[in-house]
Amino acid sequence: INAYLCGTFYEKSKFKLIDIEKKMAQEDVFKKLVSHCKEYGFVFPSSDIYDGLGAVYDYGQMGVELKNNIKKYWWDSMVLLHENIVGIDSAIFMHPTIWKASGHVDAFNDPLIDNKDSKKRYRADVLIEDQLAKYDDKINKEVAKAAKRFGESFDEAQFRSTNGRVLEHQAKRDALHTRFAKALNDGNLDELRQIIIDEEIVCPISGTKNWTEVRQFNLMFSTEMGSTSEGAMKIYLRPETAQGIFVNYLNVQKTGRMKVPFGIAQIGKAFRNEIVARQFIFRMREFEQMEMQFFVKPGTELDWFKKWKEIRLKWHKALGFGDASYRYHDHDKLAHYANAATDIEFLMPFGFKEVEGIHSRTNFDLSQHEKFSGKSIKYFDPELNESYTPYVIETSIGVDRMFLSIMSASYCEEQLENGESRVVLKLPAALAPVKLAVMPLVKKDGLPEKAREVIDSLKFHFHCQYDEKDSIGKRYRRQDAIGTPYCVTVDHQTLEDNCVTLRNRDTMQQERVAISELNNIIADRVSIDRKSTRLNSSHVALSR
Ligand code: GAP
Repeated sequence: INAYLCGTFYEKSKFKLIDIEKKMAQEDVFKKLVSHCKEYGFVFPSSDIYDGLGAVYDYGQMGVELKNNIKKYWWDSMVLLHENIVGIDSAIFMHPTIWKASGHVDAFNDPLIDNKDSKKRYRADVLIEDQLAKYDDKINKEVAKAAKRFGESFDEAQFRSTNGRVLEHQAKRDALHTRFAKALNDGNLDELRQIIIDEEIVCPISGTKNWTEVRQFNLMFSTEMGSTSEGAMKIYLRPETAQGIFVNYLNVQKTGRMKVPFGIAQIGKAFRNEIVARQFIFRMREFEQMEMQFFVKPGTELDWFKKWKEIRLKWHKALGFGDASYRYHDHDKLAHYANAATDIEFLMPFGFKEVEGIHSRTNFDLSQHEKFSGKSIKYFDPELNESYTPYVIETSIGVDRMFLSIMSASYCEEQLENGESRVVLKLPAALAPVKLAVMPLVKKDGLPEKAREVIDSLKFHFHCQYDEKDSIGKRYRRQDAIGTPYCVTVDHQTLEDNCVTLRNRDTMQQERVAISELNNIIADRVSIDRKSTRLNSSHVALSR
């Protein structure tokens, strides 16, 4: 558990982790993380005093700061670092025909199946994905057992390609995967049900295989706008922010005098009536997206797709959680608008999960809006002296999933040398909600006044907290638990020499620094470009 909690987890090879004990440890970590989020003001269930509202959450006083910092990290990396990307903020309500044109009214569906005994509803594709994961688990367990038995001399690749049981599980997994991908691609609901029957998948609640047919269920929330004598207009809460960019693309291109290739970025709320809403803020009904649509010349889209895949992975890795925490997952089934798609997955406490999607959306959306609106939205290319409908590469990341990945990678329980333990959030300093806590050693002798002086000189530059209650040890623990990277203690000596003790959250080491130097020291250590210098150059180089 400690290995997981303290980050060494990421350095271990994957197969060694996936045994039952570790899985339980990970579930345990996840539960602890959820309660930590509530206890320290990061995330609360929505409508808490009314017992919550399914898959809807509120961000508390710490959560909103972390969330804002994540959004700033993304926004700056897109809009500040790229001369050819600009931002917009479009409305959530849009003309309903937009969702007809985009295909969401007809095709934004989940295949659902009910268990007749428990009356519980499931996504058929998720039941089958869970079954695939079970085969993976079986294989990984065999590998882990063998690794333990053979120790240092273990050759994993050879074992995987020769061991009878592994090969048997792998063959079943591959056959299921092929059949599943085909059923999804064909939109064959009967075949999805048949797979569930053939694989003998049972309802986790009733334990029975008494399944209904598979039906499609549209994920968009709708409401009504206006009330005229002819009746109100049915409108939708946007299920993605992307369409707000597409319908504004020509407004931005013309008013901003943008030349292809160029991008439009947007951060905003999206809504989906998710049926399988679980795992805390991983799958929500109201969530936030950070999306960027990059408009390119037809025929160049797959090159740009490759570039954006690289850029986006670098952005994630620059946070310093370790390369082994990320992987790409290329899609078998492409959405109706895409000619290539991949996910960037992060190793959450419940396995590798999608955090960001990168899609080559062709010219589908723009062409559809052209068709449905009857207006030309072609781009005139002055270099080619011709008009065309640009192709689009989309990068789309969920703020809440990013938040969850950062919290789970940062949450850490440590045993200290003095026998005590602490919970510390090792958040990247640039993202931490509070950058600096200022504490008088005691509540008398002019130390609180001096500490106030220090905080007053810094609070315009960083989010600071003043804390004078309880022992210094307890105050450090409170700041560790919310991930504050630095604490400053004002003591009697400070009144003499204008120096304070600066304590580092991760190493717990202390140094004596002059108050006049504090601003520079903290600014240097918590600034976003300190961590992402490499990222800056790669962004600029790749996006031109
Ligand atoms: N415009 C493309 C699009 O919306 P998507 O893969 O459906 O693509 C993009 O969503 C990202 O939005 C996902 O990678 C995920 O991070 C986030 N996301 C999607 N559904 C979500 C949900 N129900 N709750 C939280 N985040 C979600």
